Amino acid sequence: MKAVAVIPGQSHSVHLRDVPEPHLADQPHPHVCHVPEGRAVKIKMLQVGVDATDREINEALYGNAPPGQQHLVIGHECFGQIVELGSKVNEFQIGDYVSCTVRRPGKSLFDSIGRNDITSDEVYYERGINLCNGYLTEFVVEDAEYVVRVPVNLKHLGVLSEPASVCAKAIEQAYLAQQRLQVWKPRLAYCMGAGQIGLLATMMLRLKGLEVYTLATRPGPHLKQEITEAYGAHYISTRQTPIEDLLARTGRPDIIFEATGNASVCFDSMKYLGLNGALIWTSITGGKHDVSFDGAKINLEWVLGNKLLVSSVNGNRSHFELGLQALSHGEMTYPGVTERILTHPVDGLGGYTKMMQLLEDKEALKVFINI
Ligand code: BGC
Ligand code: ZN
Repeated sequence: MKAVAVIPGQSHSVHLRDVPEPHLADQPHPHVCHVPEGRAVKIKMLQVGVDATDREINEALYGNAPPGQQHLVIGHECFGQIVELGSKVNEFQIGDYVSCTVRRPGKSLFDSIGRNDITSDEVYYERGINLCNGYLTEFVVEDAEYVVRVPVNLKHLGVLSEPASVCAKAIEQAYLAQQRLQVWKPRLAYCMGAGQIGLLATMMLRLKGLEVYTLATRPGPHLKQEITEAYGAHYISTRQTPIEDLLARTGRPDIIFEATGNASVCFDSMKYLGLNGALIWTSITGGKHDVSFDGAKINLEWVLGNKLLVSSVNGNRSHFELGLQALSHGEMTYPGVTERILTHPVDGLGGYTKMMQLLEDKEALKVFINI
């Protein structure tokens, strides 16, 4: 079967290759974890999304091949349909629509209790990213433990399962951490960035009843603004409205969800957060970028204001479930809006060159391959 792969360490090495089709009896990641007897699931991949991580992997800034292999099959945002089940898998049926989690457990205590998303091992194993092959291929075999059902009426959004899990987890982490305050009723949120993560976070915060301002540089009208407003949030172009002016109008936000991928914005966000607030960092900022700010002022304001910084990455199956619940709730509340994020479908695995080019396109919210 075909797969889209890179040679880690070699920049712009993305290519299409032949790989053996996996069998139910195979161990997909023998170097990491073992599928218990009878618990494997074989999935036909239908759609796989790509994001900035895939671009960085192709730029050789990130990612490693499985031990003993030269290439890494990329793709970590998957949506597919079950075609074969092990004898001990009772929770799925053939034909079920599913997604799979990304990270596989290492050896830390967190991994052993199902929290591989917060592993304390230095080395982490992620399908399509680090040391495990990914989903940009025709068939995948996986332990049922890491497979998550996508509701049939949500199959048009199934490829957003993974990004939704990342947003749902980050917000959940902030709410859990804010239990330190005993009572916390956030009312106002800023979302920094209107990419797929910023927009999904906008939706999820709106579903929690917050007033949301979604900030990005480019003035509208454009799709990002339309989607933001269709979620009942406010779109702000920071080129048109300086953040100081917005703060003067709205007061300081209780939550800032940072998803721009820009290190300056990550730190600038510290200046804007309200008292007792939570700043959520989700950007994965590859490369090097120095930022400068008045550290004494920030420290003073943060200490006197009891402010909290929560960093969050990856989602385990409970976060996929949360993300899918939010997508479902979003569909009931804002019907037809979320699918507008699916801007750039590419036909077939052979379209990988176009897929990579589209990742450079600032207009592209979600690039994905219809396999
Ligand atoms: C993925 C996460 C992953 C992270 C770090 C992101 O693009 O969506 O699942 O944990 O990269 O590799
Ligand atoms: Zn990702």
